[in-house]
Amino acid sequence: MADKPGLLVLGELPDWDLQALAQRFTLHLHYAAADKAALVRQHAASIRAIATKGEIGADAALMDALPHCEIIACYGVGVDAIDLPAARARGIPVTNTPDVLTEEVADMAIGLLLAAARRIPAGDAWVRTGAWARRGAMPLATRVWGKRLGIVGLGRIGSAIARRAEAFGMPISYSARAPKPGVAYTHYATPAALAPHVDMLVVSAAGGAATRGLVDAAAIAALPAGAIFVNVSRGTVVDEAALLAALRDGHIAAAGLDVFLNEPTIEEEFLGLPNVVLQPHAASGTVETRQDMGRLMRENLEAKMDGRPLLTPVA
Ligand code: 8YV
Repeated sequence: MADKPGLLVLGELPDWDLQALAQRFTLHLHYAAADKAALVRQHAASIRAIATKGEIGADAALMDALPHCEIIACYGVGVDAIDLPAARARGIPVTNTPDVLTEEVADMAIGLLLAAARRIPAGDAWVRTGAWARRGAMPLATRVWGKRLGIVGLGRIGSAIARRAEAFGMPISYSARAPKPGVAYTHYATPAALAPHVDMLVVSAAGGAATRGLVDAAAIAALPAGAIFVNVSRGTVVDEAALLAALRDGHIAAAGLDVFLNEPTIEEEFLGLPNVVLQPHAASGTVETRQDMGRLMRENLEAKMDGRPLLTPVA
């Protein structure tokens, strides 16, 4: 069908999404193109939509290069890498995939908390390397249940993490600019104010300019010695140099990290630290959730092409 609208696909998507999208669109795979600028130039006249990802986004220059673009659909909830003012100025609506990934990311946060505090990867290595038979019991870990949990950013994902932590008997407090109405957890205005009152800190705030460096050196210093740290939001939210220093000197006993400043080529020091559990920005990465995310992104794209209301526009 020659008249299918063009869709610029900025980041790799599973085959099930590409196949479904190809029913409605002519796909132009930006990530697979040797000369990306040439691909954009060649198809600019027919490209009416962009499919992007949380970590890829879309900048003003790309929007300018695609004057017929009617929608930017993000495969992910975080739209911090999309130049929203530029999209607004050009009248291009942006959609994301909220809700469908909330519980998945919360699962990963709790998984990282347990893995870091209970040293699950270290225990696995203890068995595999024969240290168990050679050296006996592994060094003791840190308890999670009942410990005081701090959550930076009590949005959808932070709230889902809190619900899980309640089942672990963890007293919960959080930082946010203003207290959330109807929430019984203890509120602090900043991570630095929250930090002295927790044993474990999970970062789940949205990324973007407003939260850049929110978990700063002062917040990290204010954590009690031996704290456990988890980040499932964006690397930009944390002062990474201060985090590395605290992991190096043991002020933070262990961390579980899904996100970093420079993905995927992360700061090399992380790789050598024995007290970190690392994940490749995979918190939403299950077949089930990625299928839901793909479906929602597709439904937004199709709604736009059909002139129907968007399902999940970004305000
Ligand atoms: C990524 C995410 O988008 O939802 C977000 O904001 O960061 C993730 O779900 C995912 O890795 C898809 O690329």
